[in-house]
Amino acid sequence: MKQLSVDHLLGIKYLNKNDIDLIFETADHFKEVINRPIKKVPSLRDITIANLFFENSTRTKLSFELAEKRLSADVINFSASQSSVKKGETLIDTVNNILSMKVDIVVMRHPNVGAGVFLSKHVDAKIINAGDGTHEHPTQALLDSYSIREKLGTVKGKKIVIVGDILHSRVALSNIFALQLQGAKVKVCGPTTLIPKYISSLGVEVETNLKKALEWCDVANVLRVQHERMDIKYFPSTREYTQLFGINQQLLDSLDKKIVIMHPGPINRGVEITSDVADSQNSIILNQVENGVAVRMAVIYLLAQQIKR
Ligand code: CP
Repeated sequence: MKQLSVDHLLGIKYLNKNDIDLIFETADHFKEVINRPIKKVPSLRDITIANLFFENSTRTKLSFELAEKRLSADVINFSASQSSVKKGETLIDTVNNILSMKVDIVVMRHPNVGAGVFLSKHVDAKIINAGDGTHEHPTQALLDSYSIREKLGTVKGKKIVIVGDILHSRVALSNIFALQLQGAKVKVCGPTTLIPKYISSLGVEVETNLKKALEWCDVANVLRVQHERMDIKYFPSTREYTQLFGINQQLLDSLDKKIVIMHPGPINRGVEITSDVADSQNSIILNQVENGVAVRMAVIYLLAQQIKR
């Protein structure tokens, strides 16, 4: 049986192309499963998974939980805001207490960059990074690429522009790694203050004119401005941001082709994207959410195959 080359899913930068192909092949199977009348398989009946969320989440938390339940795993959920973390407990103590309840896999979202890597070195469980600060969000990038593959047949050779707050985005970095691994061309577009200086070292071009960026691409992946990670002002006003970097139907109609619109959520409607674009025929935003369950089932299933029982 084919196996992943990694022991944990900590970031796309640790994966190779074969890993992504294997995850997508496995996700194809699970996508068929979750569209059956009985959307469940018994594959992980003997596996216990803890979802540890030290940062807010809607999509990722629900998607992981559903993926785990569709695989028949036992699931426990932890939310930092309602836990003893508030009383000063460390990450390692929190996780070791949970692991002593015989947990096999930990899915963790944490505000600190590298939290998943740190955990994988100190605890005896499979770790899946559900977003670590501004660093990586590997399952989001996998479901994004899976959705492009589903819509356009392949990721190879496609032109993808990531629009918005690149500086604070773990979705952007994981997408850049995943798309390039599959042979896509990637540009970023946004205010220069929200584009990291190291971006060219990743082989990514910068286009600060949104219309030119959209004319170039096959797919626009639109990101929200992450005000919660900003301690200074990066642009004069939201109104100006929307005028220069917001995607609206008039702008899309001015292009001489149709492009695919993506957004990882949460959406700030009327800021980075208008409602008519988000809800249009060219938007695959809800397909991304649907595919997230199948892709996460695949990741969990493949890592669980490595656990000695
Ligand atoms: N895309 C994403 O990570 O959304 P949540 O923050 O709601 O999980």
